[in-house]
Amino acid sequence: MVLPSNVSVFSSTAELFQASAQTFAELAKTAVAAHGSFSVALSGGSTPKGLFSVLADSPALNVPWQNVLFFWGDERHVPPDHADSNFRMTQESLLSKVPVRAENVHRIKSEWSHADAAARDYEQELRSVFSLGDQAFPRFDLVLLGMGADGHTASLFPGTQALTETRRLVVANWVEKLKTFRITFTFPVINAAAWVMFLAAGADKAEAIGRVFGNSNDGPPAKMVRPVDGRLVWLLDRSAAGTAAVV
Ligand code: 6PG
Repeated sequence: MVLPSNVSVFSSTAELFQASAQTFAELAKTAVAAHGSFSVALSGGSTPKGLFSVLADSPALNVPWQNVLFFWGDERHVPPDHADSNFRMTQESLLSKVPVRAENVHRIKSEWSHADAAARDYEQELRSVFSLGDQAFPRFDLVLLGMGADGHTASLFPGTQALTETRRLVVANWVEKLKTFRITFTFPVINAAAWVMFLAAGADKAEAIGRVFGNSNDGPPAKMVRPVDGRLVWLLDRSAAGTAAVV
């Protein structure tokens, strides 16, 4: 299997995080110069910690933090101080270390007992911040994504209902294998972005990477990320790329 040109493979995770931080910074500066702000939807899990640490420790990247609008592409159905919270991970590894504006941090209210209410609340927040009409989708300057070993992205897991959602922006998605709800962007929101950047590291991702870039028409949820009018880039470490050769 040969990887397409929008996929970069790095010999170490350190190089992957450096490259992703540079891309993040360049996109932020370009967006702020163009329209005064940089709207980014962050991913969760563990991989982004490496990117966030480089961003926090690299003032020379000159990220215009005051103009960055932070959102999350998904969140676990837990309070923001829970060990599994994507917000907490981001707060600890990035937001507490750079000069962001509190009003620009748009957290999912995942502590609410009803995940559906939190999803609808977040959907309203997106509509408000992006001044959206009823049928419109927000165009993020960047959606950052990771991928699980099963090929899920955001909280769009194989075999779950949210995979087929075409109207809602944010839904509460029951994930049977985790026995929990997750709050997640839907594909129309992800695919409306100007840029989507996947980060994937580790040998446990190699099988799913093979299915994403294989010749078969179907594949894991991550394969359904196809920006309608935007750029998609993948940054992998050598382990995640597995046996795939880069063109
Ligand atoms: C989450 C993420 C999820 C993540 C993948 C990869 O809430 O868990 O948004 O989509 O990106 O599960 O997670 P790792 O980076 O920990 O491998």
